[in-house]
This record gives sequence, C-alpha cells and structure tokens, in this order.
Amino acid sequence: MSLKNPNERWGAVSQSFHWLIVLLLLAQGTVGLLMGDMARGPDKIAVFAFHKSVGITILALALARLLWRLYAGRPAPVPGTPTWQERAASAMHVALYLLLFAVPISGWVMNSAAGFPLQWFGLFNLPSIAAHDHDLHEFTEDLHEWLFWALVALAAAHAAAAIYHHLFQRDATLARMLPRGWLRTPTQENHDVA
Ligand code: HEM
Ligand code: HEM
Repeated sequence: MSLKNPNERWGAVSQSFHWLIVLLLLAQGTVGLLMGDMARGPDKIAVFAFHKSVGITILALALARLLWRLYAGRPAPVPGTPTWQERAASAMHVALYLLLFAVPISGWVMNSAAGFPLQWFGLFNLPSIAAHDHDLHEFTEDLHEWLFWALVALAAAHAAAAIYHHLFQRDATLARMLPRGWLRTPTQENHDVA
C-alpha cells in the first residue's frame, strides 16, 4: 500500500487518519453525551478531563490530516462519477473538515470562557484561548452541542453516500478508502483498485 495518495485510491496515511478519527469521534461523542448526567464528584471531573484531552487529540489529528491532504493530494474521481456528485462530495468534505475543527475549538473556547484550566492527559497545560466570560461560556456550551449534531448529520449523509456507491452504483468509492482486498467491487475497472 502506498503512503501518498496514488491516482486510483487513498493511500495508507489518508486511510489511517480517516478511520482513526471516525473511531475517536464515535467514542468522544458517546462520552460527551453521557458525562453530563454523571453525579458530581471526582469521577465526573476525571471523565470531563478525559473528554477534553481526547478532544484536543482529535483537533491535532484533524490538523495533521489536513496538512497531509494538502501535501499528498487526492486520487482522481472514481470513473463514471457524474460531475454534480463530484462537486457535492467535495463540498461535503470541506464541510466535514470545517466541523472537525469547529467542534473541538468550540469546546476549547467554552472551557476557557468558564475559566477552567486545560491539561492534555495530565501531561502539559494548554493556554486559555478566550476571556473568562459567563455569556460566552453559555453561548459556546450550546454552540459545541449544535456543531456536534451538525457533524453527526453530515457524517451520516456522507457515510450513506459511500454505502450507496458501494451497494447500488457498485463502484470503488468505498473500497478505495479501505485497505486493498477488504471489499470486492463488481465492475472490472474497479478490480484494479480493490
Ligand atoms: C471533536 C471533539 C469533540 C466532540 C465530538 C465533543 C462532543 C461533545 C458532546 C456530544 C457533548 C455533550 C453536549 C451536550 O449534550 O450538552 C460535549 C460536551 C462537552 N464538551 Fe466536548 N467534544 C469535543 C471536544 C471538546 C474539547 C476539545 C473540549 C474542551 C477543551 C470539550 C469540552 C466539553 C465540555 C466542558 C462539555 C460539557 C458541556 C456542558 O457542561 O454541558 N469538548 N462534547
Ligand atoms: C465522523 C465521521 C466521518 C468524517 C468526519 C469523515 C470525513 C471524511 C473526509 C473529510 C473525507 C475526504 C477525504 C480527505 O480529504 O481526507 C472523507 C472521505 C471518505 N469517507 Fe469519510 N468521514 C466519516 C465517516 C465515514 C464513514 C462512516 C464512511 C463509510 C461508511 C466514510 C467513507 C468515506 C469514503 C469512501 C471517502 C472517500 C470519498 C472519495 O473518494 O471521494 N466516511 N471522509
């Protein structure tokens, strides 16, 4: 498997970033939704700290992924994909990238506005990126949640499109975001990449 993105499929680094971030977001969203209902106490503080550290990790991974994407480029469109679908997919990818940054940054601003310190897994401190401000805290608390649900909605549509491509258009769109040989695609031109 090549590291950079060859013309016909996503390379190992782009695939690893993609699926690692998907897994972390699933865990992070679940923890985020459940932790608010925990009883006050040291466990709750520890889970909140964990959520913040994982969130900062996702932010760093999103930045590394974007830089890699700019350096390594992207494969050519899957043969036979209509131009409008190409454009819709690209717009979706831009929106997903924006939300990958906006969700953790809104959390960071929320934490700063609340006046709380921020540590990464207890190893080092991160700076405050907003003034200690009650209204800003309230606003970013809502914003963080709404941006998260926007990410869930777009990611669901994006995943549904990938599965539709695989099952009904029977092309290599999904297979080429997975290691070679994991998914079989029926058309001959796609055997080359899957
Ligand atoms: C991609 C990364 C992240 C995701 C997917 C995420 C997701 C969530 C979700 C789903 C909630 C529950 C929202 C609710 O029901 O009210 C939440 C709450 C929270 N998140 Fe995040 N989060 C991320 C990053 C961060 C970061 C980086 C921080 C801080 C540095 C943070 C701080 C918080 C806090 C403090 C709450 C509790 C808000 C409250 O008091 O209700 N999050 N997050
Ligand atoms: C939170 C979840 C997800 C996010 C944030 C996300 C984000 C992205 C982004 C930004 C790209 C563009 C490629 C890049 O520039 O790196 C992409 C490509 C892709 N994603 Fe996802 N994705 C998610 C979940 C999924 C799931 C669940 C599937 C499959 C069921 C999937 C299938 C694909 C495929 C097949 C491509 C390549 C599309 C192409 O070649 O044009 N993604 N994803």
